[in-house]
Amino acid sequence: MDFSIKPIDPKTGLAGIKTGCIAVGVFEDKKLSQAAKELDRKGDISAALKSGDITGKAGTTLLLRATAGVAAERILLVGLGKDEPITEKNFVSAVQATARVFASLGAADGAIALPLEDVKARDAAWSACAAVLAMRDASYRFDSTKSKKEPAQGGVRKVTFLASGAGASAAKAATAQATAIANGMDLTRDLGNLPSNICTPTYLANTAKKLAKDFGFGIEVLERKQIEALKMGSFLSVTKGSEEPPKFIVLKHMGGKGKDAPTVLVGKGITFDTGGISLKPGANMDEMKYDMCGAASVLGTFRAIGEMGLKLNVIGVIPTCENMPSGRASKPGDIVTSMSGQTIEILNTDAEGRLILCDALTYVERFKPAAVVDIATLTGACVTALGHHNTGLFTRHDDAHDELADELLTAGKATGDTAWRMPIEDAYQEQLKSNFADMANIGGPPGGSITAACFLERYTKKYTWAHLDIAGTAWKSGAAKGATGRPVPLLTTFLLNRANGKKAA
Ligand code: BES
Ligand code: MN
Ligand code: ZN
Repeated sequence: MDFSIKPIDPKTGLAGIKTGCIAVGVFEDKKLSQAAKELDRKGDISAALKSGDITGKAGTTLLLRATAGVAAERILLVGLGKDEPITEKNFVSAVQATARVFASLGAADGAIALPLEDVKARDAAWSACAAVLAMRDASYRFDSTKSKKEPAQGGVRKVTFLASGAGASAAKAATAQATAIANGMDLTRDLGNLPSNICTPTYLANTAKKLAKDFGFGIEVLERKQIEALKMGSFLSVTKGSEEPPKFIVLKHMGGKGKDAPTVLVGKGITFDTGGISLKPGANMDEMKYDMCGAASVLGTFRAIGEMGLKLNVIGVIPTCENMPSGRASKPGDIVTSMSGQTIEILNTDAEGRLILCDALTYVERFKPAAVVDIATLTGACVTALGHHNTGLFTRHDDAHDELADELLTAGKATGDTAWRMPIEDAYQEQLKSNFADMANIGGPPGGSITAACFLERYTKKYTWAHLDIAGTAWKSGAAKGATGRPVPLLTTFLLNRANGKKAA
């Protein structure tokens, strides 16, 4: 899908634009947007509103064909709701509805004349970004594992945003950024949707190598021997039951100044989580192929920042392996020594994400990071706490960490890829006490996502750190089962803001 921006020619106006379909907004109470007024040459749009065929409620649509005095073959009326300026939520519903109609039209090109500059507290750049993300989301397909590919999709392939003077150049840059984000999300979704017999740790490593080649990243893939030499006893305890070799991937995008401390992303890459000897129940176990979505979001974010040529030093680190039961697998009660030297009693082999992440979090100390953000499908408890809308955000509570948390929350809000802050407190750390080791790997049922974060916190004392639990947001279950591409928009926007020297707003 192709996006471009076109300033409106004041001579011919909107009515002179030749396109398969032009989308314009209408409000509730039969009110026309400025663009709709311009196209209402012979009163066709007013008549449609009057007839009650479209209410103007956000996300409603009505397609009009061959309207008198208008060059476009079709006009799509799109409801923007009641409020002016338009609320963010209503604008997003409107672009999602536009995307749905465009996807099934018998036209190959379309134009969007929605009021990009009239969204409350947002600018044309924000609106263009939201529209591109909605369009790309609606056109995503995954059929690489079907023998018969879905027939080549009809629908609009070329989208032009019609913007007025000042908005046009801001929208242009935003469209390019949003396209890079969407390309990153597509990669993250593809990797998530691939089954674990294809998307193995080796497959993730090869994907990282390909990205490095395409975008000029530095890359290192550590093999089992090197992982052993680093004494990552905790990571190695998870891979023990598996026949697939583990990998430890390090990607470097050094787009900033040489001496600038890097921002580090660490992604959980469990390509399948059976639970190990603490075996998971059978129902829905297939969804544990998504347990590498943290890793996939790091790769997707690198795809995006590579395409953007982001001026920031960013390092991505991915510990990846399978969590399998076998005669060689870790057993409940086993005690392992992490790279940090701290010992861990594995009371439940299904709490494996923290076991691979803790060694990666120790490893990244060597980069003297400006900040470290880990991303993980870490706990079912996070889904219970926050559902599928918000990613769980955890940090310590001091000024530096409050600032990092605000940066991440702001980036999430800007892209609709939202997070919600959760606590880390000593009171919860108590739950990780072990009689036999420095800590246990589980803290019991109460506050399960918090005790998981508290476990990780013990390995992050040397830098500023945040943890994103994406168990509820990385994929959808049910009829629309599939990876969402989250939190690539949040992460990429967070890095973009850092590159622009913008801290949290
Ligand atoms: N990958 C799972 C977390 C998960 C579960 C994500 C369900 C999405 C949906 C993780 O490795 C896990 O199994 N966590 C356990 C932890 C427990 C044993 C303390 C969980 O959440 O049940
Ligand atoms: Mn698990
Ligand atoms: Zn897991």
